[in-house]
Amino acid sequence: NDKKPTSIVVFGATGDLAKRKLFPAFFNLFLEGWMPDDFELLSLGRTEHTQEEFRNYILENIKAFSRIKNFSEEKWNVFKEKIKFIRFDITQEESFIQLKNQLDYIDTSLGVRANRLFYLSVAPSFIEKVSKSLKNNGLAENVDQDRMIIEKPFGYDKETAVALNAMLAQTFKEEQIYRIDHYLGKENVQNILAFRFGNTIFEPLWNNKYIDSVQITVAETVGVEDRGGYYDGSGALRDMIQNHLMQILCMVAMEAPTEFESTEIRDRKVEVLKSVRRINPEDINHYTVRAQYTQGEIEGQPKRGYLQEPGVNPNSNTETYVAMKFYVDNERWSGVPFYMRTGKSMSEKTSSVIISFKEVPCTTFQSKINTLQPNRLTIDIQPEMDIKLSFMTKKPGLEMKLKPAEMVFDYFECSPDTPEAYETLLLDALDGDSTLFMRSDQVEEAWDVITNIQTAWEKGNVSKMYTYPAGSSGPEAADELLKRQGHYWLTNSHET
Ligand code: BG6
Repeated sequence: NDKKPTSIVVFGATGDLAKRKLFPAFFNLFLEGWMPDDFELLSLGRTEHTQEEFRNYILENIKAFSRIKNFSEEKWNVFKEKIKFIRFDITQEESFIQLKNQLDYIDTSLGVRANRLFYLSVAPSFIEKVSKSLKNNGLAENVDQDRMIIEKPFGYDKETAVALNAMLAQTFKEEQIYRIDHYLGKENVQNILAFRFGNTIFEPLWNNKYIDSVQITVAETVGVEDRGGYYDGSGALRDMIQNHLMQILCMVAMEAPTEFESTEIRDRKVEVLKSVRRINPEDINHYTVRAQYTQGEIEGQPKRGYLQEPGVNPNSNTETYVAMKFYVDNERWSGVPFYMRTGKSMSEKTSSVIISFKEVPCTTFQSKINTLQPNRLTIDIQPEMDIKLSFMTKKPGLEMKLKPAEMVFDYFECSPDTPEAYETLLLDALDGDSTLFMRSDQVEEAWDVITNIQTAWEKGNVSKMYTYPAGSSGPEAADELLKRQGHYWLTNSHET
């Protein structure tokens, strides 16, 4: 293929993300012919491994975490030769010099300067050191060829995000920095744009004249598992709302980009974030609910409470659940509430966007008003991947009675083997396409949206920390938040 030769450097190659997501994704891309003909996977880790040990470890993880069902021994044997484990100490300049020699050697053997893709799968405290050492040792000097992927958290609040971006700007050009939000790689998140702007019939209705409210839900059954240490310093607002849910909101609310191109799309998203109403500190309780899970049961298994999780402060004031209401104060969305909720240790894993349309304005079926359900569009992101449109129809029979029906587009039926988010995003980064990555101003603006909430919650006594038993659908207070406006949380489009 015509892809440029690429040296891929994975910092943190023995870490959790690399084993579950990165290597399986690279292997799948390789199996399906998306990788460049010439590439090396320089895999950096702190502990000593022989090449064989490390490759076997990767193989086990590919088998455990890869979506590919038909594993090919033959392809693996080619792929494994591309993996080179390098013992690496981030704190030592010497390690970077050796890495540079290795990269230069690859270029010399190829006879061309290969592209370089650095994946920083390291703790946030190492980002500065790694990026400065890459810069100081001249490892990533070719702006057109060298890219760096970094993982969230992009800061802890607006101030630290601005500082992080300023630091990165000293070492890399913005177009070289690929900030991953893996939700943007999910098929049905990308599909929001295809659905909206690839069709004529929905966009005229996509505004406050026809849409009554929007709900975005990302619920997980997992608790904090072994990430208590990280999570307790973060919480659901920082871990999920600031990034994943806010990005989904942008996809739903943005204006049409003039073309499907990185700057255009990211500009339109920033405009949405700028229009999101900042919540006044005194109104926090009117707009937000936060909660922690307590002991409960999930799928028949007992589950401990958040405060009993390892790594979590037993008096912690960190939320594992957030429900909130946003307004996008622009012409299109004025007055339409965007409800969001996300939580850990919930009854089921589900991510979806539900658009509720307004009630029918005409009186034709007024006598049947109790049976009329407003139209609803559901975009299921995971585990189901579908788009469902509900509408009223005549109930078959002699009488004129109405009932809701549904049109469904099911992704799995069309394509049971859809790519993983990381495959999409890694391929884009290899191709130099940053459309689905976060630009610095997007990150900062998204922090700005939640700053007042962070500040109010940190004061402690301003808003209550509710609780919900693990395995439930969240605290009752979250229902109250919607009830005030005559709304309620929807789980599927047949509910009335
Ligand atoms: C991560 C969060 O960004 O997203 C985790 O840090 C969360 O806390 C995860 O569990 C959810 O991702 P997914 O793809 O499983 O929905």
